[in-house]
Amino acid sequence: MPTSDRSRPGGGRQDRNVLAVCDMAKAFGGLKVFNGISFRIEPGEVLGVIGPNGAGKTTLINVICGMLRPSSGTIQFDGGNIGGRSFHAVSRLGIVRSFQQTITFRTASVRENLTRAIRFSGSGGVAWAQIGELLDAFGLGPMLDEPSDSLPYGSQKILGLLMAYAANPKMLLLDEPAAGLESRERTRIDRLVLHAREHLGCGILIVEHDMDLIRRLCPRLIVLEAGGVLAQGAPEEVLARSDVIQAYLGQSEDEADRDAATRRTARAAH
Ligand SMILES: Nc1ncnc2c1ncn2[C@@H]1O[C@H](COP(=O)(O)OP(=O)(O)OP(=O)(O)O)[C@@H](O)[C@H]1O
Ligand SMILES: [Mg+2]
Repeated sequence: MPTSDRSRPGGGRQDRNVLAVCDMAKAFGGLKVFNGISFRIEPGEVLGVIGPNGAGKTTLINVICGMLRPSSGTIQFDGGNIGGRSFHAVSRLGIVRSFQQTITFRTASVRENLTRAIRFSGSGGVAWAQIGELLDAFGLGPMLDEPSDSLPYGSQKILGLLMAYAANPKMLLLDEPAAGLESRERTRIDRLVLHAREHLGCGILIVEHDMDLIRRLCPRLIVLEAGGVLAQGAPEEVLARSDVIQAYLGQSEDEADRDAATRRTARAAH
């Protein structure tokens, strides 16, 4: 096989800001969450990740962003293997994640939360003018000096996403960005994702139970189930497959949201 740029340590130009997960496995003791999964996200590409509760979607994000170590396999970013590097080191490379729950510095103001996100980023963050445009679009402009925990839930969740955006990601990992939002609030996610793609040019991985949102935003998706990738491709093909419907869509989106909340509570209690 001819030697390509891709095989060189440090990577070649064609791997610039590409995320390539290769044959990755993650187990917690005897519990194999997934085994040998592979996929790739190019700059500007939006990849959906769906799967039933407990399929390992959050774990996948945790492993990519350095909060957990992979059990085996590689995670290439920008041509180098980042698997097992610390959360801080991975963040400095421009891989930024949002959380399934709202996570902000609660007593700090909206402005301070965004300033901290910019400061934490490896790239100096995005310009305030760009953030201001989004703050106004989401009605957060007049709330810049309010403590974040005084905001309604939907606005706190949007603030968490704006903090990820403000860090100027090269790869953005969103864990259930629409969870807990009312349906009329969910198009804000579309706006933020499209803005990030257009203005930052970053690749975006979206974990979601909201299939309408997945259909709207993701030209391609993968289905995690029983430790592997059950299906991948365009939403209209994948979501019509009977094995996907049986594995996942048999559970309604409301049930999936409810199960996820129950599991989070149980985990927090441990
Ligand atoms: N830190 C951990 N230690 C041990 N087991 C864990 C840990 N994190 C997750 N798990 C287990 O790994 C499996 C996958 O969990 P994960 O949270 O990734 O699922 P998910 O697909 O995100 O589910 P949901 O749709 O409910 O958010 C579950 O069985 C979970 O209990
Ligand atoms: Mg999860």
